[in-house]
Amino acid sequence: MIIGTLPGTRTITKGVIENVESIAVFIAKGGTGKTTTAVNLSAALALQGKRVLLIDGDPQGTIATYFNLQPVGGGLAELLMGEEVALQRLRDNLVLISSGGYDLWEISSLIDQRVDRYHVLGRILSRLSRLDYIIFDCPPALNVLTYNILYASDHVLLPFSTDYLTAITAVKTINALRELPPEHAPHILGVVPNFYDRFDKAHRAILRLARGHFGELLTETIIRYSRKISEAPNHAQTVFEYSPASRGSSDFASLADEVVQRCLTSRSPGAVKS
Ligand SMILES: Nc1ncnc2c1ncn2[C@@H]1O[C@H](COP(=O)(O)OP(=O)(O)OP(=O)(O)O)[C@@H](O)[C@H]1O
Ligand SMILES: [Mg+2]
Repeated sequence: MIIGTLPGTRTITKGVIENVESIAVFIAKGGTGKTTTAVNLSAALALQGKRVLLIDGDPQGTIATYFNLQPVGGGLAELLMGEEVALQRLRDNLVLISSGGYDLWEISSLIDQRVDRYHVLGRILSRLSRLDYIIFDCPPALNVLTYNILYASDHVLLPFSTDYLTAITAVKTINALRELPPEHAPHILGVVPNFYDRFDKAHRAILRLARGHFGELLTETIIRYSRKISEAPNHAQTVFEYSPASRGSSDFASLADEVVQRCLTSRSPGAVKS
């Protein structure tokens, strides 16, 4: 269902959106739970009464697949081309901008020719109002599209599957984020262990290492492996709808609480940008 439109614009304003916490869910590695986190974190925030816009920044268009949606009235690709796009109502308090009808990779390569290539999205989104959170699902690579999302985001949240290679990728991703120009670099909100199985010795060891290395950046919330999380998309449901009493629901509800808290703390006077 279309509930409104967002006018395309090329006007120049600042990248980060006023009075809205925008969070990119990103790590430069595939299959770590970015889409799962973007969807269920958005749903958890919406259930708390926050007004949430979920944006599918992955050309694979996985969120539309997750919710079994038919393409309507454009998406991020069209938005980046300055066209008008539909906001699709997903749930109470939760709307979606899908990845779009045009090929998002192609649009990205067009944008790549522009002098202002990393700022296109931020400038467009700065016109949004009446929202509390924007959550971006990202592709698993640093490219012009991800830079647009990162430049438009206040924060970045990194879900990592609790294994050695992904932990190393989290370190590398954080290093890359820290090399961005300070005025555009998003604050690192947290590194979130995902797929955690406390009976797996290797997982326990990686979690200990991650605590030592990331310190405060590691979220207290751990998303445990949950079959219900992986089954929920088969039913086009969030984990809260598919299995409200599951550990997946309680973990994502805790993550939402922690995200709200971490966003607030990052805004408090004296907070240091990680
Ligand atoms: N905590 C979890 N427990 C069980 N399954 C999970 C969990 N988190 C994610 N999954 C499953 O793992 C798979 C990969 O997750 P997801 O698609 O969210 O990763 P991704 O990082 O977005 O991948 P890509 O980089 O390809 O976009 C999906 O099938 C998802 O349902
Ligand atoms: Mg994904």
